[in-house]
Amino acid sequence: MSTNIIYCYSGTGNCLDMAKNIARELGDTDVVMMRSFPAVTDASEAKRVGFIFPCFGGGAPADVLVYARHIHIRPGTYTFAVSQSASYAGTGLAELNRIVPLDYWRTVTHQCSCIWLFPHTLMMPPCTPEEAQKRSEKLATEIAHEVLIMAKTEKKPRRNILNAAENKGWPMIAKKKAEGFRVSDSCIACGQCVKLCPRGNIRLENGKAVIGTNCAQCLGCLQFCPTGAISLGSITDKREHYHNPNVKATDLMEKVIHFD
Ligand SMILES: Cc1cc2nc3c(=O)[nH]c(=O)nc-3n(C[C@H](O)[C@H](O)[C@H](O)COP(=O)(O)O)c2cc1C
Repeated sequence: MSTNIIYCYSGTGNCLDMAKNIARELGDTDVVMMRSFPAVTDASEAKRVGFIFPCFGGGAPADVLVYARHIHIRPGTYTFAVSQSASYAGTGLAELNRIVPLDYWRTVTHQCSCIWLFPHTLMMPPCTPEEAQKRSEKLATEIAHEVLIMAKTEKKPRRNILNAAENKGWPMIAKKKAEGFRVSDSCIACGQCVKLCPRGNIRLENGKAVIGTNCAQCLGCLQFCPTGAISLGSITDKREHYHNPNVKATDLMEKVIHFD
C-alpha cells in the first residue's frame, strides 16, 4: 500500500494531469481512477487521501460521490480535495465534505471541455490553453507542498443551494443530452471510446461505435476520438476540440497509476 492515495475522476485529462503532478511531488502515491465501478476502495493504510475531480453541471460528477461512499478511510487520516472547473467550482467540494470530511481543499480553473455548452473562451479568468496549463502546473506544485506539510483549510467548503439544485438535475440532463450523440462514417472501430468510457456505455456494433444514454457527459469519447467521428449536435463539429495536452486516452483507461 502506498503512503498516499489520490482518487481522480477525469474526462478530458485536466484532473488527471493535476493528480499526476501532485503525486510526483508527494512521492509514493497511487492515483486511482474513479469510475462508476469501484476498483480500489481500501485507503485505510494511507497517510494522505485526496480527491481530484471536475465540476460537471454545478458540482461533482455523481459517480465521484458514489465512489467516495465506498472508500474506507481510517479516522484521523489527512484528507484533501481539488475541484477543477471552467469558471465556478459549484457545490462538489461541499457534497464530498459531507461524505469525507476534508482537511484541505482548493478550486482550480482550466480550459472547458463541455464543447456543446461553452466555447473555450468562457474559461475564467480568460486565457489561452497554454497559459491555463502553465497556471495549473504551478498550482499543482503549490498544492502538493501544502499537502506534504498537511496544511488545513480554515473554512469548510460552502454548499451553494442553486448549484446543488443544478447538480441534482444534471444526471437527467446528461442522459437526455446523450441521445444526441452521433457517430459518423469516419469511425474506424478502433474501440478507444469503448475502453475510455467510465460507465461502459459504448460498444462496437457492425464496425461502428454505438453510444448509449448511461452517460456522465465526461466527453472523453468525443474529445479524444482519433478521427473526430463523435459529435453531440452540429455545433460540436465546428468547435475546436480540447483535451489536456499532457494526457493520452490510454492514461485515462488505467485503474491505478503509481508514482515512486
Ligand atoms: C459536461 C460538463 C459540464 C461542465 N459543467 C461545468 C460547470 O457547471 N461549471 C464550470 O465552471 N465548468 C464546467 N465544466 C468544465 C469542467 O469542469 C472543466 O473543463 C474541467 O477542467 C474538466 O476536467 P477534466 O478534463 O479532468 O474532465 C463542465 C464540463 C463538462 C464536460
